Amino acid sequence: MNAIDILSNEHGLIRRFLERLDIAAELIRQGQRPPREFYELAVQFARTFADTVHHFKEEHVLFVRLAQRQEGAIDAQVEALRHQHERGRRLVTQLAGHLPAYAEASPEAVQMVLATSNAYCDLLQDHIHREDHEFFPLARKVLTADDCSALGEEFERDRQRRGGIAFEVAHKQVVDMGSLLTHLA
Ligand SMILES: [Fe+2]
Ligand SMILES: [Fe+2]
Repeated sequence: MNAIDILSNEHGLIRRFLERLDIAAELIRQGQRPPREFYELAVQFARTFADTVHHFKEEHVLFVRLAQRQEGAIDAQVEALRHQHERGRRLVTQLAGHLPAYAEASPEAVQMVLATSNAYCDLLQDHIHREDHEFFPLARKVLTADDCSALGEEFERDRQRRGGIAFEVAHKQVVDMGSLLTHLA
């Protein structure tokens, strides 16, 4: 798999994660309350996989190399994507902060979890759409074959540094999130 395909593949898993959050939101709107563990897992996935494994590759590897190739022409676009990553981090922190009261069924906390989760989903769906449809096609056009292999090597080093199973662990978290909702659906 080439470097951009690896990132697109990770988007696939993040989309599945967002689908779980959407299902949970719908359940809340119907008056149910997914277990706290569901949102604990969501926070873990968002922090470890989406924000660390995936965004690290984009911010510290892809964006840097692409910016070098484009010599400033895409700085504003990169900055906008970085800004969305940052906003996502803040929303996840807010979501985690609401969980203790959510676990005690505070109606306000349930509404805050719903609102924060929806804001996070909207943000990431828009973000991934932009990357898949604008940014990655640009990267595929601009990066040379050498750039792509250098990116691929950096991604592989990062994968090994994280123990080599980050994707598999994240995949299991998404599956487990689904299981935690099944008895409510
Ligand atoms: Fe991104
Ligand atoms: Fe991404």
